Amino acid sequence: MAKRILLVIGGGIAAYKAAELIRLLRKDGIGVTCVLTEGGAQFVTPLTLAALSENRVYSHLFDLKDEVEMGHIQLSRQADLVVVCPATADLLARMAGGLANDLATTLLLATDKPVLAVPAMNVRMWLHAATRRNVAQLKSDGVTVMEPDEGEMACGEYGPGRLPEPEAIVARIKAMLAGDGAALDAQPDFASENHRPLYGKHVLITAGPTHEAIDPVRYIANRSSGKQGFAIAAAAAEAGARVTLVSGPVALPTPPGVIRVDVESAREMAAAVEAALPADAAIMVAAVADWRAADCAATKIKKDGSGQVPPLALAENPDILAGLAQSPQRPRLLVGFAAETNDVIDHAKAKLARKGCDWIVANDVAADPMGGELNRVHIVSATGVDSWERLPKDAVAKQLIAKVADVLR
Ligand code: C5P
Repeated sequence: MAKRILLVIGGGIAAYKAAELIRLLRKDGIGVTCVLTEGGAQFVTPLTLAALSENRVYSHLFDLKDEVEMGHIQLSRQADLVVVCPATADLLARMAGGLANDLATTLLLATDKPVLAVPAMNVRMWLHAATRRNVAQLKSDGVTVMEPDEGEMACGEYGPGRLPEPEAIVARIKAMLAGDGAALDAQPDFASENHRPLYGKHVLITAGPTHEAIDPVRYIANRSSGKQGFAIAAAAAEAGARVTLVSGPVALPTPPGVIRVDVESAREMAAAVEAALPADAAIMVAAVADWRAADCAATKIKKDGSGQVPPLALAENPDILAGLAQSPQRPRLLVGFAAETNDVIDHAKAKLARKGCDWIVANDVAADPMGGELNRVHIVSATGVDSWERLPKDAVAKQLIAKVADVLR
């Protein structure tokens, strides 16, 4: 028998792509009944959807007031699969909260059929902690949530949040209609402690260099690429943590699922770290500039032709790691990094005591300076030294996050 889907269309700019989705589904002989939310109706008309689906379009609970003809319970169950596309942040939140304040959410609550949500929204909305929570909740409730595509958005921003191409959505729908378990099993299990050992934990990470302005066009900085800190943020998010990544100026994409706060100077980084507390663990990977220009000139400092060099007085920056160790909101696990060229472990032990953190990840940079792909690290703690072989930065990140999860468990 021909398969049928119930297609709930949310109110986002991507709603126009629902039209193409319906066309492709009909071409494959799949029946489509559309439910248009109030927001969705701002972007596509019921007439378009009715013409493409060759079917009646439902918009309001009151469309169903003739319960003899078609009750909302019946409508929610006559399809083989319910597809929400585009699933907006608002729709995902209402689904996760079990609300039933319009026809779409009422049907979603009443259905006994599998549900596929295809999110599309602005990158910040997709990465927001509330949306992360809602998606995790929906997945653990058994809803299949497709990952959005990454790219240029209608709003001009760049990142994950774009609706996947209609062909990819059709492929996922067909896999689900065929009862292909793999389509469901491919979803990470947010609720499982084994698969997501940092689920429910907040991990705060700093990464990259800081830039300390001398005048409007010049700054003091160092060569940190941010790669190791970003890899750790990615690994923590994969392990299910809520991740706040406070990043200095770097040219790296934000790892999926990570909340990123961009800063320039050490003082901005210190303020962003404080604002992100409380956290269960903090991993301070940033190569913070020790000094800043004591006074930042309001205008560009000019050469005057006399051969005289301008004086550059420095002031010490706050030590973010040491400050966090003394804070009443000190995270349960506090990790610092140290880049050393000689006597790596001895320097790391001294730093552990000086900073008041739990571990120092000592980084031997003699052979491979900042910016490389490999890292040889020693984890120095009060109980001893754990030395790892030279590994790619993402492998170091995964191993470190596994060790963090062991402590926080
Ligand atoms: O003192 P040093 O810069 O070698 O210490 C490195 C560790 O301390 C790193 O974890 C770094 O992120 C942190 N740090 C900091 N604030 C500073 C300087 C370093 O958090 N001002």
